[in-house]
Amino acid sequence: MALLDRRLLLVTGKGGTGKTSIAAALGVLAARQGKRVLIAEVAGERLSSLFRHRPVGHHETVVEERISLQAIDPIEAAHDFLRSQVGGPVHRVIFQNRLFNLTMTAAPGLREVCTVDRFRDLSQEDRGRKHPTYDLVIVDAPATGHAMAMLRSPATYSGIARGGPIKKRADELSALVADPARTGVVLCALPEETPVNETLETAEALRGLGVDLGLVVLNRTRGTLLGDDEAERIGALAPGAVDEASDGDLAVRVAGPVLVEHRRARREDAQRERLAAGLRPGVALTALERRDDEVTREDLGELADALAEAAA
Ligand SMILES: Nc1ncnc2c1ncn2[C@@H]1O[C@H](COP(=O)(O)OP(=O)(O)OP(=O)(O)O)[C@@H](O)[C@H]1O
Ligand SMILES: [Mg+2]
Repeated sequence: MALLDRRLLLVTGKGGTGKTSIAAALGVLAARQGKRVLIAEVAGERLSSLFRHRPVGHHETVVEERISLQAIDPIEAAHDFLRSQVGGPVHRVIFQNRLFNLTMTAAPGLREVCTVDRFRDLSQEDRGRKHPTYDLVIVDAPATGHAMAMLRSPATYSGIARGGPIKKRADELSALVADPARTGVVLCALPEETPVNETLETAEALRGLGVDLGLVVLNRTRGTLLGDDEAERIGALAPGAVDEASDGDLAVRVAGPVLVEHRRARREDAQRERLAAGLRPGVALTALERRDDEVTREDLGELADALAEAAA
């Protein structure tokens, strides 16, 4: 199943790995293909500034042709969920008695399941006349641990609930997240030892949950400038360059940083190979180059180009 042909994509990974930038670039790519896209950010507002828009809050807001944004507030999502499940009067009582906050803190995974329910609502094929329908919902999800808790929550609730509407809804949500034709995860990683380890662990955890890993993006890679033989020649011309980069003669001062950079690039290559080898066959992996500056709206087109092949 092509990545962008699903209805729901969750973009996650360790903090700062590029989740927001990649979610936005995938949105731009899908919109270019003619899809109506909603990019939803869970507890954050960087997405709207990336699209040069004022904070959009809880409202689905069109920011560009075929691209809408929304910031999902888990508490707000929980209100809606409980309102729809237990009905107006009971819901009002819960609020009046401040039971709500207690329920939210005491019931593990409730926030998460309500947030997943919001994803379900947004990604429905027909949302009726009152709400816009999207071809694709991309979630700029929280970092891995929290995102995994979200993906796990429907099955947990389905196990707890004995029957009735909540059980039925939890089962629906479980089916949604575990259906590769509808839901996929995009994992963002960096070419370093620990992030690669964590990415491989998350890939296995997703497999355990039966959730499809649609794409792994290795972000901020830097290519090698030199071949190994060239690096060796430079090393021979300026012995000790790497260890004594700051002093020594001119050749050493010039060669030092070049060789340090070369070694770093080689270490990154090794991490990339380790990642590729550790992922199950069939899981798409692509790299995004490190850019000199922060990612802005102008860069999203280029990022989209770079992701296009892997997303096809
Ligand atoms: N390929 C890249 N090259 C250079 N800078 C990048 C690249 N990708 C992302 N960045 C920058 O790195 C920072 C973090 O990126 P981003 O906000 O997309 O990550 P995130 O995973 O969403 O972070 P957070 O965990 O804080 O939500 C931003 O300043 C962004 O502009
Ligand atoms: Mg982010």
